[in-house]
Amino acid sequence: MTSPRHRSTARHDGHPGATTPWWRQAVVYQVYPRSFADADGDGLGDLRGVTSRVSYLADLGVDAVWLSPFYPSALADGGYDVDDHRDVDPKLGTLADFDEMTAALHAAGLRVVVDIVPNHTSDRHRWFREALASPRGSAARGRYVFRDGRDGPAGPMSEPPSSWRSLFGGSAWEPVGDGQWYLHAFAREQPDLEWSNREVRDDFLQTLGFWADRGVDGFRVDVAHGLVRDVDNNLHVDFATTHTGAVDDGSHPLWDRDELVDVYREWRQLFDTYDPPLAAVAEASVHPSRRWRYSDPSSLGQAFTFDLFEAAWDAAELRRGVELGLEQLEVGASCTWTLANHDCVRAASRYGLPPDHEQRSHPASKAWVTRHGASPELDAPLGLARARAGVLLELALPGSTYLYQGEELGLREVPDLPPEVLQDPMAFRSEGAEKGRDGCRVPLPWTPTGPSFGFGPDDLEGGAAPSPPHLPQPAWFAGASVAVQEADPTSALHLHRHALRVRRDVLGPEELTWEEAPEGVLHWSRPAGPPQGGGGGEEGGRWHCVVNAGGADGSGAVVPLPAGRLLLTSGPLDDAGHLPPSTTAWVLVP
Ligand code: BGC
Repeated sequence: MTSPRHRSTARHDGHPGATTPWWRQAVVYQVYPRSFADADGDGLGDLRGVTSRVSYLADLGVDAVWLSPFYPSALADGGYDVDDHRDVDPKLGTLADFDEMTAALHAAGLRVVVDIVPNHTSDRHRWFREALASPRGSAARGRYVFRDGRDGPAGPMSEPPSSWRSLFGGSAWEPVGDGQWYLHAFAREQPDLEWSNREVRDDFLQTLGFWADRGVDGFRVDVAHGLVRDVDNNLHVDFATTHTGAVDDGSHPLWDRDELVDVYREWRQLFDTYDPPLAAVAEASVHPSRRWRYSDPSSLGQAFTFDLFEAAWDAAELRRGVELGLEQLEVGASCTWTLANHDCVRAASRYGLPPDHEQRSHPASKAWVTRHGASPELDAPLGLARARAGVLLELALPGSTYLYQGEELGLREVPDLPPEVLQDPMAFRSEGAEKGRDGCRVPLPWTPTGPSFGFGPDDLEGGAAPSPPHLPQPAWFAGASVAVQEADPTSALHLHRHALRVRRDVLGPEELTWEEAPEGVLHWSRPAGPPQGGGGGEEGGRWHCVVNAGGADGSGAVVPLPAGRLLLTSGPLDDAGHLPPSTTAWVLVP
C-alpha cells in the first residue's frame, strides 16, 4: 500500500519547485477496466491487466490514470452498480492487485484517480438487502428513497408514487411487494441513496478515506449533481428528458440542488487533511453558471465541462464550447476538457457523420446517443482527421484534459454489435430505441493477431483457450492495434505521444488570448513556459494553436500559419506550408 502523504506536489509538472496543484493542467487517461487489458484470460479486463500496461501509459506521457469502477458488481450498468464501495470485484482482481497496480503507477510517475459512485448502490449491496428485509419506516429503508405507492385500478398502492421516468427509460420507481416503491434514477438495479441521512454521508466519508489511505490521488465523482432531490414534489419530471442546462437557480427537483454544496464542502475538508490535498472532479451536467458550485476550491476543485464535447465539428460551436469551459478560470477552478468517455459515441465516428445525420444530445450520457449502424454515411477518414485535430485543440487549452482509452488509437465506434451481445441497460430499458454505449467499450486491440488482438493472453497455461473478449472486436481492430500503430510514425498513437511531450515543454500559465482568424478557424495563443508564469521557461515566447475546422463536409480553404517554429500538426500541411481544413497546428512564436 502506498500513502499519498508527503509526496512532492511538483512531481509531475516537470518544473521542480512549482506549487501549482498537480491536477490543474494534468492529462488524465480514463481506463475502463473491463475493456483495457485482460491478464487472466477470462474475457474481462482486470487490474493486473492495467499493471501489465503501466509502461504503455507512461510512454504515452499522461500524468494520471482515472479508473472507472472496479468494485464488486453484477455489471448491470458496467460496474456503476456497486455492491461494496470498499472492495475490488473478484472478477477484476483483489485489493492486493489494486495496491500493486497503484504502486506500479506511482513508480512510473503517474497519479491514480478512482471513480466514486455516491448517487446509488447496487441492489445487491448489503444495505439494500437489509432494506428489503425491513419494514416501511425502518432505519434500513431510510438509507434509500422509499415511498408508498398511489392507489390505482390494481389496488391500493399499486401505482408508482409519481410519474418520474428513469434516465435509462421506464419508470424511476420499482415496487418491492409491500406497497412501497424505491427510486432509481438509472437502472432498477441501482437504488438511489438518501443523502439527507447522516449515516449515508458518514459512510461515504469512510469510503473516500479508505481509498485515500490506500494511496489514490483523487476521485471522479459520478453524477455529482444528482444526489439530492425533492422527491415529494409532484411536478411531472423525467430524469431522461429534463434539461438541467435550462435551470440556473437550483430549483430543479432532480438535479443540482443547493443541499449538495454542503456535502462536497465536507468532502473537501477530508481531502485537505491529506498532503497534498486530494483532487476531485465532478461529473455534473449543470447550467454553466452553476458549475463553480462543484469546481470551487471549497468544493471538489474541478468539474467536467461538456460544452466542447457536445459541440458539432463547426468553428462557431467549438469556440462557444471553449468559451464556456474557460469560465471556470473566473472562479479560480481549473478548466477541464474532454472529447470522449465511456458514455458517448467515439469522437472519430461523431465527427465523421454528415451534419444532417439524426443525432441528438442526451442529458443522461452527455452524448450523441444515436448509434448508427455500419452507416454508409460515415466518412471514417474525415472523422479521424477531425478527432486528431480535436485532440490538439483540447491539449492546447489551459486546464486539464481527460482522454478516454482507445482515443489515442483513433478508434471509432463499433456500431454493429449484434443485439444479443449488448450489455448496456440503456439498450434494454429503452426497448431497443437506444442502442446503448457498448460500441465505445469494446476491448482494446494491442496486437494485429491473436484471439483477442492481445487484449487477453493468446493461450492459457496447460493449453486451454482463453475466453473471448466480453464484447466482440471487429476485424478492423487489427489495423488499429497498438503494435501496428507503434510501427507507423503517422499513426494516432504517435501523434498523441508527440503531442504530450511537446505540451510538457511549452505548457505555461493558465491563460489564453484569442487571435484574429478567418471564418471557420479558431486561433489562440498562450504564454509558453512554466505554469507558474515565471517568464521564459524552457521555451519562452507564445504557444499558438490554430484549428482549421473547415466546412461541414470537410471542404474549405487552407489558412496560413503565424511565423514561428512549427511544433506539431495533426495532419500534413499543403506544399506552401498552409493548414488544410480538419487540421490543427501548434506554432511557437518567439
Ligand atoms: C456514468 C455512467 C453510468 C451512470 C450511473 C454516469 O454518469 O458515467 O456510465 O451509467 O453515471 O452511474
